[in-house]
Amino acid sequence: MLVTGGASGLGAAIAAAAVAAGYRVGVLDPLDASDGHLGVESFRGSVADPDAVEEVLDRFGAPDVVVNNAGIVRFGPLTDLPLDQWREVLDVNLTGTFVVARAVARRWIEMGTAGSIVNVTSMNGVAAGPNAGAYGASKAAVALLTNQMALEWGPHGIRVNAVAPGLIDGGMSTPIYADPDTRRARESKVPLGRLGTPDEVADVVLFLASSTAAYVTGQNLVVDGGVTGSVIAHLPRPVSVDSVGHD
Ligand SMILES: NC(=O)c1ccc[n+]([C@@H]2O[C@H](COP(=O)([O-])OP(=O)(O)OC[C@H]3O[C@@H](n4cnc5c(N)ncnc54)[C@H](O)[C@@H]3O)[C@@H](O)[C@H]2O)c1
Repeated sequence: MLVTGGASGLGAAIAAAAVAAGYRVGVLDPLDASDGHLGVESFRGSVADPDAVEEVLDRFGAPDVVVNNAGIVRFGPLTDLPLDQWREVLDVNLTGTFVVARAVARRWIEMGTAGSIVNVTSMNGVAAGPNAGAYGASKAAVALLTNQMALEWGPHGIRVNAVAPGLIDGGMSTPIYADPDTRRARESKVPLGRLGTPDEVADVVLFLASSTAAYVTGQNLVVDGGVTGSVIAHLPRPVSVDSVGHD
């Protein structure tokens, strides 16, 4: 399994879970992942660099599973967001996913083998969020790209799915939950009443990657404790209307 962005955060949890499940795991990340705690083969580089990606695949071999987890966020209202930051987000999150997935799919098709791809998207690609315009657009695009790849590569036996994490206690969200009041307020909006963990995201990634999900492709599975679909519950509502239909 090749996990991009696997040196820290959710990617590190996915890589660790994959090692525990018996996969040989390679990590492509600008950061070093070879300090021993993950038990992975570390390749330093960017997903958005096609030459670096080809070199990793030459050295690691075509993996049986690819997890396109690498992602960055640049916050800001659309009116103020610098264009270079918009491009940076799209380059890593969307183009990087495309570059890695295509490079591996081409090899699988050439070799006559098939594998599984799991793209890490986000609840922000399902619903708009404050100051997250570039990030959300990139993740919504990856969700559609997941469908497109499933459509084009399905005839070769290649499955492509996505996992859309919600409020996760780790990775890039760590600064948000440093403040206990913010943490409590956010938890209170989640139907399951708590944040998710990186390990819970990793479990779903491994499920979609595995043969247990052999007939699942083109899906964007939201792993969010129910929060994305619960927006209506947070709208004010007059008590009187709830008596309609009752004696
Ligand atoms: N943490 C959350 O709450 C959350 C929620 C929803 C979605 N996600 C998604 O999960 C994925 C992992 O995020 P995280 O929270 O672990 O963030 P993180 O910042 O902790 O980790 C991201 C990793 O990606 C690596 N990376 C950055 N640019 C890269 C590049 N060009 N090529 C390869 N690797 C690169 C970083 O070095 C880092 O190791 C991202 O796609 C993110 O959008 C996270």
